[in-house]
Amino acid sequence: MSGPNTGDSITERAVEAYSQIEDPRLREIVTALIRHLHALVKEVRLEEQEWEFAWDFLARMARFTGPERNEFLLLGDVIGISQLIEVIDHERPDSAVGFALVGPFYRANAPVLGRGASIVSPDTAGERVRVTGRVYDLTTEAPIAGATLSVWQAATNGLYENQDESQPDYNLRGQFQTDDAGAYDLVALMPTPYPVPTDGPVGNLLRVAHRYPYRPAHIHFIVSKSGYETLVTQVFVDGDPTVNTDVVFTASGNMVGEFQHDGDHYSLNYDFQLRPGVSTMPKAPIP
Ligand code: BEZ
Ligand code: FE
Repeated sequence: MSGPNTGDSITERAVEAYSQIEDPRLREIVTALIRHLHALVKEVRLEEQEWEFAWDFLARMARFTGPERNEFLLLGDVIGISQLIEVIDHERPDSAVGFALVGPFYRANAPVLGRGASIVSPDTAGERVRVTGRVYDLTTEAPIAGATLSVWQAATNGLYENQDESQPDYNLRGQFQTDDAGAYDLVALMPTPYPVPTDGPVGNLLRVAHRYPYRPAHIHFIVSKSGYETLVTQVFVDGDPTVNTDVVFTASGNMVGEFQHDGDHYSLNYDFQLRPGVSTMPKAPIP
């Protein structure tokens, strides 16, 4: 029989109890998770009522989670985990364009549209922006023909089409291919800032922290081509002061575009660089 439980002996025994996990990566993650959570409990000397609050908070998050919404992903976003993973996995000093979190509103299988087409339904309120540019190889600077750009964005009411019955299915979503010169050309909505959903437990957390729940105006892009690392990014508006207060810590200087007023619309020229590597698409958080 071992001696009485101490803080350290419980941690050691808990880590040991999961050391038989056969998959080495899973074992590494599970045992590190146990060590870090035990360290947290010791550091703040967590009290029973606080632990009860924690599991009740998780249960409330589960009630706000379903096929169309994932409150757990949103929590990861607003505490900086999702963007931290992007930076650790992808950011290199030679990248001109930054990697961004996917966010909870990406849908796969958006309509495949032709050169110059619009992702905006005619009755959608707001100004239009024509977006043009090139996709090229970061190492050789050669144009990449046949790259796919998946584009999505919120309407000016702050809602993505899956959150908003007044928008047509797949409004403000589309897929485009680059031509032989690696060029693309599409029409989007001039983006506007919008708040992340604040009606659930994550909203409560933002309120107690006095955090501004808005994302700066942006357009999402996933740029992919077999043989290249998939680029998940967002383009923000140069000069937008809220770029510095992005609630999910994504917006930064290597993701801003110069949107120019051009007659009755805006225009943006923006290039994407792909690095040779393995092409994988992110899992779509909603169907
Ligand atoms: C988005 O940009 O779509 C987004 C990202 C993280 C949380 C909420 C929304
Ligand atoms: Fe967004």
